Amino acid sequence: MIVELPLSSVVPVKCRRCLKLSLQSTERCGYWGGRGRPGASSGIGAETARVLALHGTHVIMAVRNMEAGWEVKEAILKELPSAKIDTMELDLSSMASVRQFASEYVSLGLPLSILINNAGMWGTPFMLSQDGIELLFATNHLGHFLLTDLLLETMKNTSRESNREGRIVNLSSVGHRLAYREGIRFDKINNESEYNIMLAYAQSKLANILHSNELSRRLKLLLARSLNMYSKTSSR
Ligand SMILES: NC(=O)c1ccc[n+]([C@@H]2O[C@H](COP(=O)([O-])OP(=O)(O)OC[C@H]3O[C@@H](n4cnc5c(N)ncnc54)[C@H](OP(=O)(O)O)[C@@H]3O)[C@@H](O)[C@H]2O)c1
Repeated sequence: MIVELPLSSVVPVKCRRCLKLSLQSTERCGYWGGRGRPGASSGIGAETARVLALHGTHVIMAVRNMEAGWEVKEAILKELPSAKIDTMELDLSSMASVRQFASEYVSLGLPLSILINNAGMWGTPFMLSQDGIELLFATNHLGHFLLTDLLLETMKNTSRESNREGRIVNLSSVGHRLAYREGIRFDKINNESEYNIMLAYAQSKLANILHSNELSRRLKLLLARSLNMYSKTSSR
């Protein structure tokens, strides 16, 4: 079975000490592999892509660093030469890049069964994205939100044609509990003077959860409506 699966964003973890690429570099040399995240052993996205590819899934890795993406692809192909794995460019912090990616994906005419919104960053000082939005919120939430929205129709079509439910997976974090007291500070997203590295990350991860919950609610309603339509049609 072929499942088209974009992973946003799958890139390898490079060991910061020996600079060797590995899907499990930190286990190999015991150095931090995640972007300043203590205890991160390997990029979750890279490992997810690897395991899905090994199970015969057609994986499309959406990465901002194409060279790094190709290296992960090569590593997976070394393990399983018949793996079906591709890379496409995507920078989630840029809404133009997200639109470009989605439009290229749709124009390929590929089905889409599972979307894994994996990419995330944390620990960055206050910065604005090229769209003028606080970088962490733009990358961890808005990019995924827009991407999901732009690919939803393709997912619905795939689901109808294959008669199988699709899956959208948003990678959040238990850290969402540490968000600002007000939850998401929509009116203060770009407020540099009150920016807090930890709380800003937590806020973006809370947004991932709220996005998932609302999406799930709407898709369930949609499913209920189409089942209802089906039963009406069949009772005629
Ligand atoms: N690891 C944990 O313990 C943990 C715990 C809770 C939640 N999570 C969540 O799990 C997800 C994956 O975590 P991880 O530990 O695998 O992180 P990671 O090793 O730091 O990898 C993050 C990935 O996101 C990509 N990325 C960052 N900014 C991007 C952008 N603007 N456009 C496209 N790709 C971008 C990075 O690509 P580049 O190499 O190009 O930067 C990298 O591939 C994140 O959402 C994280 O918040 C992780």
